[in-house]
Amino acid sequence: MKIIMLGAPGAGKGTQAKKIAKKYEIPHISTGDIFRANIKNNTELGKKAKTYMDKGLLVPDELTVDLVIDRVQQEDCKNGYILDGFPRTIPQAESLDAALAKMGEKVDFAINVEVPDENIVNRMSGRRACVGCGATYHIKYNAPKTEDICDVCGEKLVLREDDQPETVLKRLGVYHDQTQPLIEYYAKAGVLKEVDGTVDMEDVFQAIVSVLGE
Ligand code: AP5
Ligand code: ZN
Repeated sequence: MKIIMLGAPGAGKGTQAKKIAKKYEIPHISTGDIFRANIKNNTELGKKAKTYMDKGLLVPDELTVDLVIDRVQQEDCKNGYILDGFPRTIPQAESLDAALAKMGEKVDFAINVEVPDENIVNRMSGRRACVGCGATYHIKYNAPKTEDICDVCGEKLVLREDDQPETVLKRLGVYHDQTQPLIEYYAKAGVLKEVDGTVDMEDVFQAIVSVLGE
């Protein structure tokens, strides 16, 4: 099963993608996580990506597309995968479709997690990310057991650099301009499924499971 997660920044794509990956035993591939790992390790890709991410802009397609296409051809992806944060532009979606077509494959589901802009800034300002393992929390909706400490690895939790309110607004603008058109793209392809992302995390998950089938 090849699944794409669509939705605004902070809609809950990462939260849901992790749960889906676990339930269906498929890899969770997050381009945001890949870039953040590269930034942490100070790689050439990380240095380049950081200049865009800190401003709330998209990393150019040239740095993004090949990375994902290579990743989905790895052995652990042969029974499917869930893409979180990719594609984010029409050219990225077209490149993915073309690469899959060459392998005789296609996207099975594009799940759009719908959350209005008004809720987004509130979610992002409450999000905390682990500097060690990248796990995410929310100070109100998904609080760690000990304040500012990761339940999984015990490292410190911080506000992501691009979660400052001004950068969130910029990311939302970029989302509406460049990523939202993908909703229609996948609707035309007949694989779009929409779920309400404003309800409790567990209810969002149940809605997705009912779309995907047990
Ligand atoms: P990326 O990491 O993909 O960020 P994003 O799309 O902006 O998404 P987020 O991670 O911010 O949010 P999410 O939807 O995963 O929400 P989450 O589950 O954490 O990308 C970062 C940057 O990398 C981009 O800006 C760009 O520069 C670059 N990039 C990445 N991919 C790229 C690509 N393909 N092309 C070009 N550039 C790319 O939830 C948010 C918060 O809300 C959490 O605190 C969570 O606990 C809470 N929450 C979740 N669900 C609920 C709920 N139902 N109720 C209440 N709270 C909830
Ligand atoms: Zn951690």
